[in-house]
Amino acid sequence: MKKIAVITSGGDCPGMNAAIRAVVRVAMANQIEVWGIKNGYAGMIANDMTQLDSRSVGDIIHKGGTFLGTARSEEFKTLTGRQKAVANLQAHGIEGLVVIGGDGSLTGAKLLAELGIKFVGLPGTIDNDIWGTDYTIGFDTAVNTALDAINKLRDTASAHGRVMLVEVMGRACGWIALTAGLAGGAEIILIPEQPFSSENICRQLLESRAKGKQYSIVVVAEGAGSAIDLGKVISAKTGLETRVSVLGHIQRGGAPTVSDRLLASRLAERAVRDLLQGKSDIMIGYRNNQCVEVPITDAISKKKDIDPELYRLSDVLSQ
Ligand code: F6P
Repeated sequence: MKKIAVITSGGDCPGMNAAIRAVVRVAMANQIEVWGIKNGYAGMIANDMTQLDSRSVGDIIHKGGTFLGTARSEEFKTLTGRQKAVANLQAHGIEGLVVIGGDGSLTGAKLLAELGIKFVGLPGTIDNDIWGTDYTIGFDTAVNTALDAINKLRDTASAHGRVMLVEVMGRACGWIALTAGLAGGAEIILIPEQPFSSENICRQLLESRAKGKQYSIVVVAEGAGSAIDLGKVISAKTGLETRVSVLGHIQRGGAPTVSDRLLASRLAERAVRDLLQGKSDIMIGYRNNQCVEVPITDAISKKKDIDPELYRLSDVLSQ
């Protein structure tokens, strides 16, 4: 293989730039030409790609977002769109791809492979919801952003004796909520993986006041429901004063943490090496402090569960 390309797709996450940088520099070190595709699969269809070298990826390791841009493309979901994309890659002589993104982006890569393009995927999403890897690129930074917000909200919650609800991201999973909630000492953590009722939450909050707690932090994963709606129910049913903060996209930005930069760099190096050995249809995951190859069908079809031990511990420590 003489020419490869790198693409970031779907929702951005901190650490994508560190991954692109590593892909480019490892490729250059192996005398491989490397191209950057702009704005995800939409850019692949629009033939928006440019050759990169070691200098093009200088000064980006510390930046959030992705300097290649990213997008969610409707056209790519059609066979005609994908055929256009493949024709563009072939016209450039690009034989292999490193695809950095979440489950939708990795599913897209598999569809491209069915049209003859080899690829190795990297798990890039703040949600940490990809099977086969202990951590996804961007998760650690997002969790630290959420934790910083919880720490600040704790100050004002305690000053007023309020119930502070914090809604964090996680489209269909509770990893950010559980991890930031546990580290931030939340009293209640609501995640889509664990059923709950507002009656129980209200009872728990009243009991904790009776035990002497002056204020409460409730962390809600967006996939578990709306913190705004829950805040209204809690104040109506308990008489406790509630305030709600929806953290939103602030969790997607910011300088990547040490962990995310290292994870991105290590996974990217392995991805390029595997691609050069002719491997395809795999994702590089990180398990037990090792880079591992994960069949792409497993990565995109198996559901990654939350860590039940973390959930149990968060419950014990919230008493
Ligand atoms: O998948 C990452 C994520 O940030 C989710 O947590 C969130 O639900 C979604 O993306 C938001 O997507 P968008 O940026 O398209 O609104």
